Amino acid sequence: MILDSFGRNHNYLRISLTDNCNLRCFYCMPEEEYEFTPASRLMQADEIEAISKIFVAQGVNKIRLTGGEPLVRKDAGKIILSLSKLPVKLTLTTNGTRIHEFIELLKEANIQTLNISLDTLQSDRFMLLTRRDQFKLVYDNIQLLIRNNFQVKVNVVVMKGMNDGEINDFIEWTKDTPIQIRFIEFMPFSGNRWTSNKVFTWQEILEVVQTKYPIVRLEDEINDTAKKYTVPGHTGSFAVISTMTSPFCSGCNRMRLTADGKMKNCLFSKEETDLLTAFRKGEDILPLIQKSIASKAKELGGQFTADFEQVHAEEIQNRSMITIGG
Ligand code: 5AD
Ligand code: SF4
Repeated sequence: MILDSFGRNHNYLRISLTDNCNLRCFYCMPEEEYEFTPASRLMQADEIEAISKIFVAQGVNKIRLTGGEPLVRKDAGKIILSLSKLPVKLTLTTNGTRIHEFIELLKEANIQTLNISLDTLQSDRFMLLTRRDQFKLVYDNIQLLIRNNFQVKVNVVVMKGMNDGEINDFIEWTKDTPIQIRFIEFMPFSGNRWTSNKVFTWQEILEVVQTKYPIVRLEDEINDTAKKYTVPGHTGSFAVISTMTSPFCSGCNRMRLTADGKMKNCLFSKEETDLLTAFRKGEDILPLIQKSIASKAKELGGQFTADFEQVHAEEIQNRSMITIGG
C-alpha cells in the first residue's frame, strides 16, 4: 500500500503519455509559445510498463492515461496494449479526435470507459476554445464509442461567459444518450488566464439545471471526485466536479506521473519527484514513490483553499495543465 500521513491509500495512477496535443484549448495550454518535450526526454514505452509494474506491486489497481492528448503519441497503441495486460482497470482521457483510428485497439485492450473532453456543442465555439475546427469529428467519435458499447464520460470545463449558457444543452443530450456529462469547475494553472470570476460554481450549475429539469442526487462512490445526478427519465446522467468550491481531497487516492517521468502527489503540488532519472540509473524508485506520498499535503497541494475568490492564480506554483495531464 502507498499510504500518506493522513492514512489515504493511493491505488490510482494517472500517467501522462505526452505533453503534445493537436488542439489548443486556452485553459490548458500556457499563453506563451510552448515547446513540446522532445521524445528522448519522455518515458519510453518499456519504461512506462516497468514503472507501472512497480506501482501495481504496491496495490495500484487503476491506471488512467492522459496527455496532452495521449493518442497523438506514435506508440500510444503499443503502450495501451502493454498496460492492458496488468491487473488494473485501464482507462484514458482524450480529446476524442483520434478515436476512430483506435477503436479496435481500445476493444482489444478491454477498455470499458473513456473520458472525452468536449466543452461546447457549438462548432464555432469549439473553434474559439480549441483553435481547431474539429467539433464534428469529436462529436461523431463519441457516437462511435457509444455504438461500440463503451461507457463515455464527457468532461465539460464550465467557464463563466464562455459556455455556461450551454449547460442545459448538455443535459438535453443525456435524455436519450447513455453518456455521463461531467461539469468541471474551472481551475487555475500556470498561464491559463484563470480568474476567480470565470469560475462557474457547482451551486450555479445546479441552479441552471433546475430551471428546466428536476434532478435527483445519486450516491457517491468511495474516492469519487464527482457529485452525481440524474434527471428522472433520462438515459444518461450528469455530475459536477467541484474542485474549487468543494474539494474532494479527503478521499484522494490519486498519484500522477508526468510524461517526462516526474511524480506529482497532487494535481496542485509544487514539488515533483524525478522517478525517470533514478530509474534510468538503475536505482530502486519505490522509496522515492513512498517519500513523495508521505509528503502529500492535506488538500489542494497546500497551495490554496476552497475559498476560491481569494485565490491569486499567479501565486500558485505549478505546471500548466498540458504538462501535468488532467
Ligand atoms: N480547469 C478544469 N479542468 C481542466 N481541464 C484542463 N484544464 C482545466 C482547467 N483549467 C480538463 C480538461 C480535460 C481534463 C483532462 O482536464 O477538460 O477533460
Ligand atoms: Fe489538448 Fe485536452 Fe489540453 Fe485541450 S484540454 S489542449 S484537448 S490536452
